[in-house]
Amino acid sequence: MTETDTAARLRWVIGNWKQNKLRFEARELADAVAAGLMNAIAANPSSVNVGIAPTFLSLDLAVRHAPPGGALWLFAQNVAAQESGAFTGEVGPTMLLDAGVNGAIIGHSERRGHFRETDHDVARKLQAALAAGVQTVLCIGEPLEIRESATHESYVISQLSTAFSNVSHEHINERLVIAYEPIWAIGTGKVATPTEASAMHRSIRAWMGERFGSTGAGRSILYGGSVKPANAAGLLAAGDIDGFLVGGASLDAASFLDIVRTAAGG
Ligand code: 13P
Repeated sequence: MTETDTAARLRWVIGNWKQNKLRFEARELADAVAAGLMNAIAANPSSVNVGIAPTFLSLDLAVRHAPPGGALWLFAQNVAAQESGAFTGEVGPTMLLDAGVNGAIIGHSERRGHFRETDHDVARKLQAALAAGVQTVLCIGEPLEIRESATHESYVISQLSTAFSNVSHEHINERLVIAYEPIWAIGTGKVATPTEASAMHRSIRAWMGERFGSTGAGRSILYGGSVKPANAAGLLAAGDIDGFLVGGASLDAASFLDIVRTAAGG
């Protein structure tokens, strides 16, 4: 298998619900996703992992009502770099695992943008989450002005290199997934073209290979930014795209499951 052989890597489709859904709504949506999940992945059940990331306040509901066998992965949208202590408002990696949550999204551009998380904050969170054994989705991606100035590749590689500055080889394994989410494509309806997305994914994979060898190059790399049922197949066909981190379309069970079905090859 070559490093860019998509068939060798697990696909992921993860719904990032962001700051949406009251608890009763979250329960309904999680139930609807769970109810349709087996049918959606029927074409190839072991080829795709499916997850949702509700708010912290709805995660316990999702844990309690999750389908049996861990078929639906549960993610927090953020995690602290510290395990515990005097850090008001924060939740640590082991606290997530203790609550039955599988993983966390780290470094989402909305956390970087609205809450001033720096590349160094992201690095500390990534190191802590991987060390604790949390399933981790590391988000990277450039703003519009960087894309327009054609410096997007070096910008994203710099985000990567800082994020992994304290991560040792032993923590690079299937617990790590990377999500490339160009900021100009998030919530805008303006999706990256399959060519743009797969070119960036190849650069990310090459960097991971240089830094961490074949284990690094073998990590699943997801695309996020205005993914919809209508554009999912085209993105996957471009190669080097191992699934999706879905925002808006994950708030509707039918459209999320359509994307899952596409990723499962159904
Ligand atoms: P949209 O799918 O709404 O563009 O959001 C993408 C995203 O930010 C997922 O984390």
